[in-house]
Amino acid sequence: MARSLWRILVVNGPNLNLLGQREPEIYGTTDLATIEAELQNIGFDLGAVIDSRQSNHEGELVEWLHEARTDFDGVLINAAAFTHTSIALRDAIAASGIPSVEVHLSNVHAREPFRHTSMIAAVCIGVVQGFGANSYALGLRGLIDYLRTAETTED
Ligand code: DQA
Repeated sequence: MARSLWRILVVNGPNLNLLGQREPEIYGTTDLATIEAELQNIGFDLGAVIDSRQSNHEGELVEWLHEARTDFDGVLINAAAFTHTSIALRDAIAASGIPSVEVHLSNVHAREPFRHTSMIAAVCIGVVQGFGANSYALGLRGLIDYLRTAETTED
């Protein structure tokens, strides 16, 4: 049985509210609202409802991931600096029991060594990074494709 709409939670971590103004030479000039609007359009085209949120607080991000257990089918997450530090976020993603995709605007492996470790990558189905704002669009398309394939395999 085909689902009518996928429910996707888009989670953005600390400092991403400053996109467009913050270190534009690294993160580009596109602001978060523009990225979120593009994800809405992609969701509309591909049959998904997108709920985009941003927080600078680790605990709030953890609570949203708990909500994802029951209210969403997939998660697209840019955990920003918490990517490299947060076992709590890793555990919350694992506990969500639904597929998550990690995204980054920059190619973190081409940057400082402390950014080369991701605490969350191992509990995500995939990682998209280095494509600027387009990393989100690519990640969302990959996530929806994954959900669709998993559903087809289940039938
Ligand atoms: C980032 C990369 C992180 O290392 C950094 O702390 C961020 C943004 C990115 O999207 O490139 O805040 O997640």
